[in-house]
Amino acid sequence: MTRTPTGDLIRPNRKTNGVGVQAEDTRICVVMVGLPARGKSLIAQKVTRYLHWLSIPSKIFNVGQYRRSETPAPSASFFATSNPEGERLRRAAAEAAVNDMIKWFQRGAGLIAILDATNSTKERRRWIQNRCAAEGIQTMFVESKCDDPDLIMSNIREVKATSPDYKGQDPEVAAQDFLARIQNYEKVYETIDEDELDLTYVKLIDVGQRVIINQIKDYLQSRVVYYLMNLHIKPRSIWLSRHGESTFNLEGKIGGDADISERGEAYARSLPDLVRRCGDGRKLTVWTSTLKRTIQTARFLTFEKLEWKALDELDSGVCDGLTYADIEEQYPEDFKARDEDKYNYRYLGGESYRDVVIRLEPIIMELERSENILIVTHQAILRCIYAYFMNVAQEKSPWMEVPLHTLIKLTPKAYSTHEERLKADIPAVSTWRGKGSSAKHAEPTDEERNSMGKNVGSGH
Ligand code: SIN
Repeated sequence: MTRTPTGDLIRPNRKTNGVGVQAEDTRICVVMVGLPARGKSLIAQKVTRYLHWLSIPSKIFNVGQYRRSETPAPSASFFATSNPEGERLRRAAAEAAVNDMIKWFQRGAGLIAILDATNSTKERRRWIQNRCAAEGIQTMFVESKCDDPDLIMSNIREVKATSPDYKGQDPEVAAQDFLARIQNYEKVYETIDEDELDLTYVKLIDVGQRVIINQIKDYLQSRVVYYLMNLHIKPRSIWLSRHGESTFNLEGKIGGDADISERGEAYARSLPDLVRRCGDGRKLTVWTSTLKRTIQTARFLTFEKLEWKALDELDSGVCDGLTYADIEEQYPEDFKARDEDKYNYRYLGGESYRDVVIRLEPIIMELERSENILIVTHQAILRCIYAYFMNVAQEKSPWMEVPLHTLIKLTPKAYSTHEERLKADIPAVSTWRGKGSSAKHAEPTDEERNSMGKNVGSGH
């Protein structure tokens, strides 16, 4: 950092790679392929959530949703090849979805569109490829091929019981009709094969047990492929906890590598029981950062442990070890700039939330590959991981309240993530500071006082 002789900040006007992925010129249509109940919509949703988290604008175009505007609750016979009216309406829905997607790209609204539909014939795939090529849009076909009857049945039960097509229907009747719908699709379904070697595609066989990749062309495509290769759908939970209260928390200081306080120690001792209370006896692996306060907090847990540098707290650069009141006094411009755009604000000599997301990407990949993991980490890191699972918008995530001495259990479901919070009965300071509040006069509102106890105001 440089200053003028009068002490004013001189900000270097240099470019930074802080926007994450440098992919402004690429436009990709990810075309889902596969029979119904093969997890296509789930994959589409996970990919968009991941891309949003990485600040890559993306959108799902679901052909079923377009079809529902004309035919909200069709029976299986609507999907029979012997039903020309059904065929016409389904074709019209696919055309409407593709048209809207092309307009979306033309408006410059995003980089990756996902066309969520069965796209089960070669003729349909070629048509999409040609429409996109005419607009300069790359296509990447992602086929989910799965013949495991148990997986298919559990998908039918979990997903279709909640599908708008079967709203209000008896779940068993709905499942039978849905099976008949699948049989109709099976009559025409063509898997991607050597006739389509000129296409870019990824074939996920039995949910990632085998993956076939063809003609991946650029960086962004390979990022999506890498993500897809790490997905699994086995039931599991992710547990998240901040470290126990630290001595820096008590003093309202940020950063550092302080020990946990007496109350932090009590939380560490209570953590194994807390995990037992909201666990189901499943084996966990514990991940911590390399900083003392997380390692001390996790030390009574008897599971296998792993320390990750990538889980260390957001680096507050020159402000490390200061209180918010110190920062407001010594770096008033920075204090204000951070409040204005907390996600993008990078501490002098340190990091922004955006930087943290980039360094957390390997953690997210590893989490996707893993089963039950308990992460003991820091406020800013936890906010970023939570934002990924719960699809929290960037402008909100840095302001989320993640209290100390609270265990969060996230359980991914087909279309959302279920959350439980278990609060230990051990008081701790609140390290949360609301947007725009002065650190010097950090008077909490009644609501804050009730929900968070004592407001000291440290942390990120
Ligand atoms: C639907 O109409 O539900 C989906 C159409 C398709 O993808 O085949």
